[in-house]
Amino acid sequence: DVLADYQGTALLEKQLSKRLGISRCIVLPGNADKQYRVVDSFGRRLNQLLGTLLPTGQSMISVTGGSTLAQVARNLSPDLSKNRQLVFLPARGGVGESVTIQANSVCAEMALRTQSQYRAMYLPEDISEKSFESLQKETSIKSVLDLIYRSNVVIHSIGTASVMAERRNLSQKEQELIDSGRAVSEAFGDFFDKSGNLVYKVPRIGLHVRDLDKIEYVIAIAGGESKANAIQSYMNNAPHHTILITDEAASKLILRDN
Ligand code: BG6
Repeated sequence: DVLADYQGTALLEKQLSKRLGISRCIVLPGNADKQYRVVDSFGRRLNQLLGTLLPTGQSMISVTGGSTLAQVARNLSPDLSKNRQLVFLPARGGVGESVTIQANSVCAEMALRTQSQYRAMYLPEDISEKSFESLQKETSIKSVLDLIYRSNVVIHSIGTASVMAERRNLSQKEQELIDSGRAVSEAFGDFFDKSGNLVYKVPRIGLHVRDLDKIEYVIAIAGGESKANAIQSYMNNAPHHTILITDEAASKLILRDN
């Protein structure tokens, strides 16, 4: 019955938050690996959550890319910008992945759906450490970066290390580092092993995991059995105030582990 279901989910959410060491988890039914619509339900839940969390007035919302957030974005709605001015920003620059799942596109989609503003940041993927330094000083980039660093909200996903290493076109040498370090998760260009040790860092402009401490609302979204290990690994480094939106399939696997 409905009440038993509700109590069951509330318990699952509590146990998961405790296991992952974060303040809150929201667990939705299903398995995102098998059911496409589960990710749509993450999006609708995110819309609801932001509606209760965000203050009236202005919010700067930084978002990462990926297939999860690209689909989540399509489920946001204009009620979110009632009494609010939202600006969506790409949390990181220069993404070599396909246009539809780039952070810039996720931003644009979120802004379109909520009838808000967005700013894009276009940067080449393979830049040297040196040009990376000087690019940060370019006015067009700096103006977006300044806004990113002032974000009061971050919405991000958590990637599977091997999938992300391939999608980001990393060099043979970088791939080897990721393999030999047994990386299982990736977020914000950082690759972590099972225990959360940093294995490799893609030099990139924008937000880093360490910046999240200062940001008021941090929302992570990842689901499906295939993401269970990555979620566990990344959460070793996540700030405690992170709110995770996930599904039953990932949750049960995480709680069953060790
Ligand atoms: C990338 C983000 O674009 O997508 C990563 O920059 C994120 O931080 C990843 O972990 C997740 O992708 P997906 O397709 O598994 O949702």
